[in-house]
Amino acid sequence: MASISFTLPIFLTIIFFLPLKIIPTIGTNADETRIHFYYQERTKPPNATAIKVVSSPIEHANPIFAFGNIFVFDDPITEDLDPASHLLGRVQGQLVIVSLDGNDGLYTLNIHFTNLSPWTGSTLTVIGRNPTQQTVKELPVVGGTGLFRLARGYVVVTRLTPIDSPSGILTFLVNATLFNH
Ligand SMILES: *[C@@H]1O[C@H](CO)[C@@H](O)[C@H](O)[C@H]1NC(C)=O
Ligand SMILES: *[C@@H]1O[C@H](CO)[C@@H](O)[C@H](O)[C@H]1NC(C)=O
Repeated sequence: MASISFTLPIFLTIIFFLPLKIIPTIGTNADETRIHFYYQERTKPPNATAIKVVSSPIEHANPIFAFGNIFVFDDPITEDLDPASHLLGRVQGQLVIVSLDGNDGLYTLNIHFTNLSPWTGSTLTVIGRNPTQQTVKELPVVGGTGLFRLARGYVVVTRLTPIDSPSGILTFLVNATLFNH
């Protein structure tokens, strides 16, 4: 069996990630179900999972958030912070910049669990305001399919990496709270 020796950077990375590591968890009481998971957005080629499909004709100080820009994304849901960790599903949707000042986006997305018991095959649909300049965003869950049929609740999406992450990979934590009746 190969012996394991930690180099210092790897060791530091592990220490750094440990307090953040949250395996997708399920907290259920009579009133609500809570689910936590990560998804990863690759913003740079090759293999980008988020692309701009419409570019605004309007000049904007921050071209990413120009009024009218439309992005689509198909981001993997992963078991933990490591983008290479186990694939649990996809977050698929679009972001349209809908305010003249670029501060408001309309986020429309489906959360599709492809490998997370007991929700494999079930989806949640989220539609709401995405405050583009904030790292923590609350969005309404407006419905779902399968075990999430008639879902009601909200998600809090936290971006854990800087928007200009040198790796080109943005990691998001999602905390979903769903009402059970
Ligand atoms: C991009 O995807 C191809 C095909 O799946 C794969 O071979 C390649 O390693 C990927 N490149 C990166 C940087 O992930
Ligand atoms: C999300 O849930 C995790 C695990 O319970 C918690 O540590 C974290 O503070 C929550 N984040 C938000 C923004 O609610």
